[in-house]
Amino acid sequence: MTTPDHRFLRALRREPVDKTPIWIMRQAGRYLPEYRATRERAGSFLALAQTPELACEVTLQPLARFPLDAAILFSDILTIPDAMGLGLHFVDGEGPKLRHPLRSVADVARLGVPDPETDLRYVMDAVRLIRRELAERVPLIGFSGSPWTLACYMIEGEGSSSFSRAKALALDDAATMHRLLDTLAQSVARYLCAQAAAGAQALMVFDTWGGLLAPEAFRNFSLRYLAEVVALLKSDRVARNLPVILFSKGANGHLEALADTGCAALGLDWTIDIDEARRRVGARVALQGNLDPAVLAASPEAIRTEARRILDGFGAHPGHVFNLGHGITPDIDPERVAVLVDAVHGE
Ligand code: CP3
Repeated sequence: MTTPDHRFLRALRREPVDKTPIWIMRQAGRYLPEYRATRERAGSFLALAQTPELACEVTLQPLARFPLDAAILFSDILTIPDAMGLGLHFVDGEGPKLRHPLRSVADVARLGVPDPETDLRYVMDAVRLIRRELAERVPLIGFSGSPWTLACYMIEGEGSSSFSRAKALALDDAATMHRLLDTLAQSVARYLCAQAAAGAQALMVFDTWGGLLAPEAFRNFSLRYLAEVVALLKSDRVARNLPVILFSKGANGHLEALADTGCAALGLDWTIDIDEARRRVGARVALQGNLDPAVLAASPEAIRTEARRILDGFGAHPGHVFNLGHGITPDIDPERVAVLVDAVHGE
């Protein structure tokens, strides 16, 4: 099977497939001992992500273990803020941090749109290398953070449970927030177009913090810029042919509006029944999801039961890509992932 006909891309086009395709968010990560070994060799997560040969190696690790239906570029959403000069680094046990978070209108005004082939060359080189090493086995997914989610980190300077500084800026100085989000939408679109040109075959946008916003704020500060990114991708000669998957975590109230952006698929978190999501938007977009990641810590029987519940919930329609509702966590035994992949493939 060549990748254009692969069941992952067919499902995103809502064409019939032999088996439901599955891949897993954060499939290359700390739950795999071979990932931890390569990361040790690299010295840090950032060194790993910024060395194309090592990024390629860890991208392929989960595929060597499990018959997954897609590969995802090993990188991070915070590459764009880093390329903009904000100084990404990781403090052990505390997650990502930015050395120079945005603190003034002047900080926002100074931001430029990074040139992917120079400022983010290591990402483009990784995409080219991974695509070559995959040799058409499975399609490669490229990705970016959404404008709103990147703005959250750029304003806060680190992770947060509420991102209240970002919300305060949206309320107190909406013009500056819109200026920032517009620069980010241009940057995200340019970055994704470059990944498409380098060989990515599907594009996913992670709007991890969209669901923190009240409905009107979601429409103004998250949805509007997701729609702008999709529109910019549709105007690119290469990217226009790639399916775009939008994942707005915690934004189940907005599925119809997200489907209206022109994306090919919506990623779902685990807090909605997939049959409800399908009834609401399934005639327009494919759906990707949506097993609670915590299920993987339960018994093989429970994993099979919960996988079956989602497969049955979606039903015998085209357009389902199985995934977790968020990233796999480091505590999971890889054997449980094998159980899930086999259950979804009906083996
Ligand atoms: O899915 C994949 O396998 C692709 C790789 C990928 C990573 N980050 C690798 C990573 C992807 C798609 C991301 C996206 C990402 N990064 C998001 C959006 C997706 C989501 O989870 O909602 C966000 C919010 C980030 C920012 C970020 N980077 C966080 C919150 C963390 C975790 C910090 C921690 O200590 O757990 C990272 C680091 C990171 N990115 C790791 C991996 C495998 C762990 C780093 C390590 O090896 O220690």
